[in-house]
Amino acid sequence: MMSRGILMFFGVLATYISALFGINLIPKFMLERVRPEGTMLPYAYTEQELRGRRVYVREGCVYCHSQQIRAKQNGSDMERGWGQRPTVAQDYVHDSPVLLGTMRTGPDLANIGVRQPSDDWHLKHLYNPRITSPGSIMPPYPWLFMKQGEYDRGMTLDLPQEFAPEAGAQVIPTQEALDLVAYLKSLKRNYKVEGLK
Ligand code: HEC
Repeated sequence: MMSRGILMFFGVLATYISALFGINLIPKFMLERVRPEGTMLPYAYTEQELRGRRVYVREGCVYCHSQQIRAKQNGSDMERGWGQRPTVAQDYVHDSPVLLGTMRTGPDLANIGVRQPSDDWHLKHLYNPRITSPGSIMPPYPWLFMKQGEYDRGMTLDLPQEFAPEAGAQVIPTQEALDLVAYLKSLKRNYKVEGLK
């Protein structure tokens, strides 16, 4: 009698667990970042990427950076290495507001996630663009960072000494800096779009 009870218990448990995986967890996992071959939609942004996008808007990055690759007949964006194909309407389906930009004081960022996948590069560049790009006229964003001691994340930027805020000081990215970098790395308009080469 007792052993039947146990059998029944495990039977119910197994049914429950297989249902949990079969009709809940596995479909959820598959749908979360769905983009079947041949469809024309980019990935949706994650929560962190959306937070980073708000920092991008707030800091006015759009005043100097566009996010649009022009078709071959309208300029040399592709020759500059800014993208493999022109951007199309679908590329902006998750964007609100759309950040096309009108000025190109700096390079187009529609594909910066493809071109520059390194967190370390982005963080140093945001802390002071002159570290990674000598002579850059992009403004530094030191308020997205803190000095160690003020704040601790167990992660410091490996800065050349001349860029340290004071001798020997370590610099730490804030959550906003990490979010902004996550957003920049998500900018990839390199999936196939039908009818375009
Ligand atoms: C005053 C104009 C200006 C503003 C504002 C500006 N940038 Fe830039 N940005 C530039 C210039 C010029 C370059 C090219 C030199 C360099 O790499 O620093 C550049 C380069 C970059 C690059 C590297 C692009 C590549 O192809 O290598 C990234 C990424 C970038 N900027 C992100 C940002 C972000 C994020 C912000 C806002 C927090 C921002 N920029 C604000 C002018 C600007």
